[in-house]
Amino acid sequence: MNKEKFYITTPIYYINDIPHIGHAYTTIAADVLARYYKKLGREVFFMTGTDEHGAKIAEAAEKAGKSPKEFVDGLVPKFKTAWEKLNIEYDEFFRTTNKEHEKIVQEIVQKLKEKGYLEKREYEGLYCVACEKFYMPDELIKGKLCPDHKREVIKYKEENYFFLLSKLSEKLIDKIKTGELKIGPETRKNEILSKINSGLDDVSISRAAVDWGIPFPGDPEQTVYVWVDALLNYYTATKIYKNGPSWPADLHLLAKDILWFHAIVWPAMLIALDIKPPKMVFAHGFFTVDGQKMSKSIGNVLDPIPLVDKYGADAVRYALLREFPFGQDGDISEEKIAQRHTSDLANGLGNLLNRTLSMINRYELKVKDESMKLVVDGAKDHQKEIHSFIENLNFSEALFDIWTFYIKPSNELIDKEKPWELIKNDMGKTTAVLQYCYSNLISIQEIIYPFMPETAEKMKKQLETKKPEPLFPRIEEKQ
Ligand code: MSP
Repeated sequence: MNKEKFYITTPIYYINDIPHIGHAYTTIAADVLARYYKKLGREVFFMTGTDEHGAKIAEAAEKAGKSPKEFVDGLVPKFKTAWEKLNIEYDEFFRTTNKEHEKIVQEIVQKLKEKGYLEKREYEGLYCVACEKFYMPDELIKGKLCPDHKREVIKYKEENYFFLLSKLSEKLIDKIKTGELKIGPETRKNEILSKINSGLDDVSISRAAVDWGIPFPGDPEQTVYVWVDALLNYYTATKIYKNGPSWPADLHLLAKDILWFHAIVWPAMLIALDIKPPKMVFAHGFFTVDGQKMSKSIGNVLDPIPLVDKYGADAVRYALLREFPFGQDGDISEEKIAQRHTSDLANGLGNLLNRTLSMINRYELKVKDESMKLVVDGAKDHQKEIHSFIENLNFSEALFDIWTFYIKPSNELIDKEKPWELIKNDMGKTTAVLQYCYSNLISIQEIIYPFMPETAEKMKKQLETKKPEPLFPRIEEKQ
């Protein structure tokens, strides 16, 4: 039987430094969806990776006193380790220095040229190396600083190849309007449509001044612009990996910072090549850390690894996705993760599992291994709702529902009925109370799996053997 495919990607992150919690956020969300659809029986291909060419990487390598290749090779394991620690189950880790990728990129750029979508022009512009992007003078602070990185832009004057993006506006609008290319959330889609409507400029897609890149086909003096090289990863992967993903991708996940590239430049390139656009591009929000933009100079860049070591992968996964709606901006901090760990996880879920199993054991109660049946009216609908929240990338709502409709009522029932007193004269009712909690725990175990795979695994074992062990040990006890 042919399984329905699901090809999901994260951005390929710039490898000028170690991964931070912002990269982890998108990657965790992609992992949740990948696990969710895999459980539903779909043939999932989940890809993440690193963006390894361009001026930004060359600059970082130089600072480190290494060749670019040596430098990126040294950083790849840092990304892989972070993803392993966070239990990210990706299928391939894509690197743009992959030789096959480089070759396919050249072939594709050549095709764009043959199809009449490239033009060589003299170009003068203001470039931010950290963004790998040109700015208009009026977008800059004091006419010279990048609005994002507050660093001085560089004046580039060179002959470049331009991709004739302006020719593709109408086709692009058509793909978006017919839903062939979906953009989420809705507000972002409207922003993109109005950007296209206000007119698109052609984009320079080669660099004469940057050596660290893929040689431009037919013009060895130039390299392919890093964004063209990077965006193409999603497609070249379908040619590189045997039994790999097939095009079009079902979902590109990213944040709003790079939506323009993903919702305009990328689909336009594909349209020019007569290739289908991705089915969906979804841009989540940006988060601040302790109320401030994450930045090296402020010193508030959160490294996911020590957080995982302290609170566990599942607590980090849970806290990030629970804290604020996925499509919106929000704030995160270690304190918020610690709070979620204590209140929702240790005192909520962990306590429920622990006391339910302890009492079943202590009072030698017979409980049936069944989910749902004894659960209050309407519980099935909550389950449906949770599934639809996940499918619509509304992770915080899904988690809210699991806690509100499954975990909280069970803990409240135990507090109210006090089985430790009830057992003295009503064995039947004690059993009923704990059966309710036990059945609920079976459902919870299934439904939290994509979010918290390690916890789900532990719960499964404990529910089978009925031997309780703390799921989320208090942080003090650990140290
Ligand atoms: N290399 C490009 C992407 C090329 S994809 C063809 C790039 N890399 S990046 O390292 O800067 O990663 C940007 C992405 O990291 C964002 O789109 C988002 O997925 C994630 N995030 C980085 N910081 C973040 C926050 N503070 N908040 C949320 N997501 C964050 O752009």
